[in-house]
Amino acid sequence: MNLFRVTFCCSNTDPGPWLEGLRAALPQTEVSLWQPGAAPADYAVVWAPPQQFLDEQPQLKAIFNIGAGVDALLKLRLPPRAVVVRLDDAGMAVQMAEYVCQAVIRHFRELDTYASDIRAGQWTFRKPRQREDFPVGVMGLGVLGTRVAQALRQFEFPVNGWSRSPKVLVGVRSFSGAAQWHDFLAASRVLVNLLALTPQTQNILNHATLSRLQPGGYVINVARGAHLVDDDLLSLIDSGHLSGATLDVFRTEPLPPAHRFWQHPKIILTPHTSARTLREQSIAQIAGKMVALARGEPLAGQVDVARGY
Ligand SMILES: NC(=O)c1ccc[n+]([C@@H]2O[C@H](COP(=O)([O-])OP(=O)(O)OC[C@H]3O[C@@H](n4cnc5c(N)ncnc54)[C@H](OP(=O)(O)O)[C@@H]3O)[C@@H](O)[C@H]2O)c1
Repeated sequence: MNLFRVTFCCSNTDPGPWLEGLRAALPQTEVSLWQPGAAPADYAVVWAPPQQFLDEQPQLKAIFNIGAGVDALLKLRLPPRAVVVRLDDAGMAVQMAEYVCQAVIRHFRELDTYASDIRAGQWTFRKPRQREDFPVGVMGLGVLGTRVAQALRQFEFPVNGWSRSPKVLVGVRSFSGAAQWHDFLAASRVLVNLLALTPQTQNILNHATLSRLQPGGYVINVARGAHLVDDDLLSLIDSGHLSGATLDVFRTEPLPPAHRFWQHPKIILTPHTSARTLREQSIAQIAGKMVALARGEPLAGQVDVARGY
C-alpha cells in the first residue's frame, strides 16, 4: 500500500534524476511528474511552479520547496491546508560560507589589485590592512547567515549580525529589529546580505541605508536581487562612499545585457551560484521530512507563511 502520493513540479529543473532519486528514497510511494489534469497528490516537490499547478492540487498537505528562499512561492495562491517546507541547509550553508568568505577576503586582501599588477608585469607590495578596520555586518542570522557569521569569525574579522529577533552567537555582536538597524550599519564596513525577502525587507539596501556604512564600505548581496536598489548602489560606488560590491543575485535573472553592473570595474558578478541546491542531499532531506510528516512528527524548516519566510 502506498504511504502517500508525491507530485513533482519544478521549472528549470531536469525532472528525471529527481524522480528517480525520490522513488529510490521512498520505495512505497507513488512519485509522478505533474502535468495539467494530473490526479491529486498528498505532497508536492516544487520550484517556481505555475499558479495552475497549485489551483489544481487544492488537497495538498505539504509543499516542499527545493530551495531555501520561498519568496517566489509565497507570492502564489496556496492550497488552504498545505504547510510549506523549505530546504534546511542540505549542503547550502557551507557553500554560502565559502562564497562570502572568499568575497570578503578577496576585497580585504586586495587580491584583484595584485592580480592586475601581476598581469601588468609589476611586482608591487601594499601595506597590510588591519582586520579591525573591516568589521563585517551580516544581515540575517538564519540558516545561512549564522553559518556565514561563524565562518567569518574563523578568519578573526570583527562580525556584527542583524536579525528580526535577538540572537546570541559566540563572537558575533548581535543587533536586532528596527531599533538597532542604524547602529548595526554604522558599526559595519563590509555588508553581507542574507535576509529573507519579504515586503519588509524589499529595497532595504538603498541610498539612505548604504550611506550609513563606514566610509569605503563594501556590499556583498547573496540573498535576493529585490533587496537592493541597483541605481543607489551604483551612485554610492561612483561617489566613492562605497568601494565596490560582489553580487550573486539580481532583480532580473539572467542579468539583462544592457545593465550597468556588467561592465562596472568595481563590481564582481556571479550568476546566482553562491549556494546551489545539491540534489542528493536535498532528496534525502525531503524524503525524510515526508516520512516524518506522514507519521505526525515535528518538522524542521516549516515556513511561517504569514511572516513570509
Ligand atoms: N544566492 C543563492 O544562491 C542563495 C541560496 C540559498 C538562499 N539564498 C537566499 O539567502 C537568504 C537567507 O536564506 P536563509 O535560509 O538563511 O533564510 P532564513 O533561515 O529564513 O533566515 C532569514 C533571516 O532574515 C531575518 N529577517 C527576516 N525579516 C527580517 C526583518 N524584517 N528584519 C530583520 N531581519 C529579518 C530573519 O530574522 P529572525 O532570525 O529573527 O527570524 C533571519 O535571521 C534568503 O533570501 C534566500 O532566498 C540565496
